[in-house]
Amino acid sequence: MRALLIDGYAPVPSAHLGTAADVRPGPGEVRIRVEAAALNPLDAKLAHGDMTGWFPLAFPYVPGTDFAGVVDALGEAVTDLRLGDAVLGRSDPVAGGALAEAIIVPARCVTRRPEGLDASIAACLPTPAGIAYQALFDHLRVPEGAVLLILGAGGAVGRAAIQLAPAGVEVVACAGQPRGTDPASPARWVRPDEPDFLPVAAKADCVLDCAGGEIQHRVIAAVHPGAKLAAIVAPADEAAVVARGIEAAFLVLETRRDTLAAIADAAARGVLHPEAPAVFGFEESAATYRDYVAGRTIGKLVMTTGGGR
Ligand SMILES: NC(=O)c1ccc[n+]([C@@H]2O[C@H](COP(=O)([O-])OP(=O)(O)OC[C@H]3O[C@@H](n4cnc5c(N)ncnc54)[C@H](OP(=O)(O)O)[C@@H]3O)[C@@H](O)[C@H]2O)c1
Repeated sequence: MRALLIDGYAPVPSAHLGTAADVRPGPGEVRIRVEAAALNPLDAKLAHGDMTGWFPLAFPYVPGTDFAGVVDALGEAVTDLRLGDAVLGRSDPVAGGALAEAIIVPARCVTRRPEGLDASIAACLPTPAGIAYQALFDHLRVPEGAVLLILGAGGAVGRAAIQLAPAGVEVVACAGQPRGTDPASPARWVRPDEPDFLPVAAKADCVLDCAGGEIQHRVIAAVHPGAKLAAIVAPADEAAVVARGIEAAFLVLETRRDTLAAIADAAARGVLHPEAPAVFGFEESAATYRDYVAGRTIGKLVMTTGGGR
């Protein structure tokens, strides 16, 4: 099986196309013929060795966690998927494996892909929409009438959170480059350097922080006691959180079928619609991955293998 392989951590990962072992899925696992695989900021962080505390890599490593494809082999005791099912899913970051012709994952890490949901769009969902979903619905549980402030709203996670926010929630989206607002998921866009930003932040009942850094400190100092913050880039300073009387948690995406199914359903209903990705072919994956890891590209990138349903 052909795959993109790296032999060590960046700054210059030796990314090259090569051959990975063509193994059969074990008990509880499925093999997916990959149609599309998306890159996420996590892939760059993993390549730089920034996540070794959480996700230590073993080399050679096949990058990529988010994929869409077709089930082409079933391990023992997998009864809820069939050969030929179109799916989307996410592998454990330590395992990676999506930038390849095929990937083996536990069956709980995939869900069926609704009819009409294109593989290249489906592959954009698992990590960004998955963490947005878990932040909003498992952690923040944003109540009706609340003000939800999203930091780093111009990225894939922020965009998904705006679209998934429940009706009746007032969304304030903070980004360096404010985007146009979508009538189906309205948001008030603010820039972090606007004079209006902190007075607006002060009204937030819930904050989804997809930015970290200095803006996180400024917002913690501005929000009212009792506000809830879900950080996904860096944990909040504990002393500042206690001093302000807010509730804060650092979230790490849990790959679960219930989340995958919920976001696939939201995409099928048109609630979730990721920004159109820039698509590259498998043959271009080494160069594209190197550029992504080096921070030379912006926006969502998706590899397609050309094999349809
Ligand atoms: N804890 C977890 O489990 C978890 C899960 C997923 C992601 N994350 C982290 O969350 C952070 C955000 O992830 P992400 O997937 O949303 O990152 P992303 O899509 O790459 O966006 C990051 C930033 O890049 C800019 N950007 C993105 N698309 C753009 C475009 N088309 N045009 C212009 N600028 C664009 C935006 O900056 P501006 O604000 O300046 O416009 C955006 O805030 C990352 O650090 C990621 O690692 C954590």
